[in-house]
Amino acid sequence: MYRSNTCGELRIADKGKKVTLAGWVQKARSLGSMTFVDLRDRYGITQLVFEGDPGLGREYVIQVTGEVLERESKNPKMPTGDIEIKVESLNILNKAQTPPFTIEENSDGGEDIRAKYRYLDLRRAPLQRALALRHRLAQEVRTYLDKQGFMEIETPYLIKSTPEGARDFVVPSRMNPGQFYALPQSPQTFKQLLMVAGYDRYFQIVRCFRDEDLRADRQPEFTQIDCEMSFVEQEDVLNMFEGMMRQMFKNAVGVDIPDPLPRMSWYDAMDNYGSDKPDIRFGMKFHEISDLVKGCGFSVFDGSEYIGAITAEGCAEYTRKQLDELTEWVKRPQVGAKGLVYIKVNADGTIKSSIDKFYTPEQLQKVAEACEAKAGDLIFVLCGPKRKTQTQLGVLRIEMGNRLGLRDPKVFAPLWIVDFPLLEWSEEDGRFYAMHHPFTAPKPEHEKWFYSDKKEDLERVCANAYDFVLNGTELGGGSIRIHNADMQSRMFEVLGISKEDAEYKFGFIINAFKFGAPPHGGLAFGFDRVCALFGGQETIRDYIAFPKNNQGRDVMIDSPSLIDQVQMDELFLESKVKA
Ligand code: AMO
Repeated sequence: MYRSNTCGELRIADKGKKVTLAGWVQKARSLGSMTFVDLRDRYGITQLVFEGDPGLGREYVIQVTGEVLERESKNPKMPTGDIEIKVESLNILNKAQTPPFTIEENSDGGEDIRAKYRYLDLRRAPLQRALALRHRLAQEVRTYLDKQGFMEIETPYLIKSTPEGARDFVVPSRMNPGQFYALPQSPQTFKQLLMVAGYDRYFQIVRCFRDEDLRADRQPEFTQIDCEMSFVEQEDVLNMFEGMMRQMFKNAVGVDIPDPLPRMSWYDAMDNYGSDKPDIRFGMKFHEISDLVKGCGFSVFDGSEYIGAITAEGCAEYTRKQLDELTEWVKRPQVGAKGLVYIKVNADGTIKSSIDKFYTPEQLQKVAEACEAKAGDLIFVLCGPKRKTQTQLGVLRIEMGNRLGLRDPKVFAPLWIVDFPLLEWSEEDGRFYAMHHPFTAPKPEHEKWFYSDKKEDLERVCANAYDFVLNGTELGGGSIRIHNADMQSRMFEVLGISKEDAEYKFGFIINAFKFGAPPHGGLAFGFDRVCALFGGQETIRDYIAFPKNNQGRDVMIDSPSLIDQVQMDELFLESKVKA
């Protein structure tokens, strides 16, 4: 037996016991006649006491046997802080090179070096807590869905292109020269085929692959909790997964979320928060002030479709410099506003603004009232095309939320966004795209517009599509699907996909719908995001054991990398990049 106990286990009640522990040396402090060693495993740290100096380096793997003693100077910060082990025998199981960074709660290593030695970083407690949370959440998902009669079914990774907006990763086929598999962006079509096959409650905790630009909450391979149900309406799906999230919140982080969860239409989310994933931990809702400020001779406003404002409480004391800095901030390409108008309601109630020249104090007073601004508040105004301006104002709102400390990661404000438009017009490409994906059904009452050829009609069509949003992040999304071959063909037509192309890419699913497809719907949660937000973080990387960096590289195994000529030849590939 290698060990009788873990390094996180022993307490004062164990005093006098003879124990054997095994683990890694985190720290050794030699005091001449005695040496204190912190021994670590994933359960915790236990202090060892050696007579003399056993000559142990950091990260040596050792096994010790000794007696549990009560410590003279106790450490109340450590669960094992009341005891220590007086070592009687030491067995060095493996020596270690000095690690390139400290393996403690807070490491001295930079991100790159820690990524290169990920297995060492993973020894640190914060990462172990993150992966433990991930494990717990996965168990909660499985127990909940199993109880509800869901079957966990695996779907293939080597498939054909799935159209969900991102680029596919592709894999050449040796046995089929010149042909490629694509890795799934999600199991969307397969789960729908499982519904056709009669497996009316499916789920899978599944890896998905998308070749898209990376951000804090995006990885090229990530995990979904993917679910689908037959014979359901939107209400059934929302209730089922609200229940799952409620159990996850309760059992993994001890938080009770509202019952029922708030719901907001996509239109209200855009009009009030400028985002389809609003952070409702704080207010600062939009006020449209077009009627109050248009037609007064200020040409910038007069020529704008939409003029919107947010009120930042207690910010009237912002200096010229701060306002200039914020103006530059909204003009950056990432936000894209042309400029920023401010209206200060001073502590004495007087008003000072960047548009004093164009408006009387009375007019500005009216604007302040419309924006619910009190003495001491600051109003920011943006103008331009409606949705674009709302989006910019939404970005500014989040920035102000951050600056004012209104986005506490320990506060959880989940909600459903519902009633999404089915289609999104792209000016650039002169065509419609599916807002969620091409398998989402129009609301039955909007079908009349779906079959119309007019752009305005198609723009009006809403879907029974829904997103689960937490603290300004989209954690999941889904929809009620099309289950009728003719409607699916119409969808491809609306999206400008030719009959031949639709047949080539999606013939299998259109065909399946001809063999008795039940009404169905579902959704998928981004599991990495769920874990990160539950853990109070925005970056998902710490919740994935072996993640990629922002360039999509795994710097530990040095991938992607070149393959040798023999492999290239076998796959009938030639590279355009000359080594
Ligand atoms: P969607 O594309 O909205 O829907 O994806 C579902 C959820 O997956 C997460 N997600 C990601 N997480 C990390 N890195 C990424 N690159 C990434 N991309 C997406 C998000 C998102 O909400 N098949 C549909 C679901 C359905 O309709 O049932 C789908 O994949 O949290």
